[in-house]
Amino acid sequence: MKALILSGGHGTRLRPLTYSQQKQLIPVANKPVLFYAIEDVIEAGIHDIGIIVGPNAEQVKKTVMSVDWDANIEFIYQGDPLGLAHAIKVAKDYLGDDDFVMYLGDNILREGIVRHLEHFKKGNFDASILLCEVPNPQQFGVAELSEDGKTIKRLVEKPKVPPSNLALVGIYFFKPVIHEAVKHLKPSWRGELEITDAIQWLIDHGYKVGWTKVTGWWKDTGKPEDILDANRLILDDIERDIRIKTRAKIIGRVVIEEGTEIDENTVIKGPAIIGKNCKIKNAYIGPYTSIGNNCIIENTEIEDSVILEGSEIRCGGRIVESLIGRNVKILEQNNHPIGRRLIIGDNSQLTL
Ligand code: DAU
Repeated sequence: MKALILSGGHGTRLRPLTYSQQKQLIPVANKPVLFYAIEDVIEAGIHDIGIIVGPNAEQVKKTVMSVDWDANIEFIYQGDPLGLAHAIKVAKDYLGDDDFVMYLGDNILREGIVRHLEHFKKGNFDASILLCEVPNPQQFGVAELSEDGKTIKRLVEKPKVPPSNLALVGIYFFKPVIHEAVKHLKPSWRGELEITDAIQWLIDHGYKVGWTKVTGWWKDTGKPEDILDANRLILDDIERDIRIKTRAKIIGRVVIEEGTEIDENTVIKGPAIIGKNCKIKNAYIGPYTSIGNNCIIENTEIEDSVILEGSEIRCGGRIVESLIGRNVKILEQNNHPIGRRLIIGDNSQLTL
């Protein structure tokens, strides 16, 4: 059994952050989203992992290889993101005659994939998908089940009128027959080779397609609000772990990593995580906040936010529900003329 993890694509819905980094590398609770997929796959006993890379291939390789994974990892270059089924086409030689799990690198599934993999194996399915009830099925692939609920009748990609509220999670188990299905595909209305259509081909040709329902939470981190939501959900599960000495007031489940300095006028209320070598002075860090390595936070209150590494926030105000990129400076005004001075990249969003 192999794994194919997708870390290509342009990540347009996460601009401007994705101008400088691949979307699957954006951290949630200070860990790149992609790492959650790799960990799930290894936890399920799969140690041969192919990672599909696209425009920022070198960045993905460097980040993944900075960790000593218990797996053989190969990178497979896709070029333009022509669809999830196109990624399988590109990886055909790597996958060979093996069964495999395809895991979209921007998905996070709290419960992992062990139970779902067992179902795929036990049922001797040609493919098995994961379904999750969602309030907004129009934004996903959606499954229509048979009357008795046992089998899948039909799958539709982002339907205007969804046949159910059961969204396809971005995790799929396949036998090698999927390569045959992919061969028959034509590009969809959005110009992509859709994995949904490939699975529909299997159903239409009498292959055995199974499904399992997700019981815990699942997140597709495609948009900024999804990153903030995933951050809340992951932080809900952390344990208190403070690796520095500080006289700051620290309440609840807070993680603080080595080398960080926090003065006694600071209050930190968990769940929150603060990375390495940060300097925090006269600040309030509130629940559901993740602060990356090497950040400076001074005279500021931050709550329910994700701050990426190297950023400096000394604005004297309060920041909430924000996603702030790397090496960003948000500073207090202290000279004339009075007014907001902004140097902001394309597609940024400010609420003042
Ligand atoms: O997240 C679940 C949804 O993922 C499913 O419900 C849909 O049925 C499925 O089509 C997919 O929809 P998205 O529109 O969210 O897919 P997206 O284009 O965002 O791509 C998903 C991931 O795969 C993302 O991490 C980028 C990567 N990717 C995507 C394409 C199209 C590639 O690596 N190569 C590609 O060609």
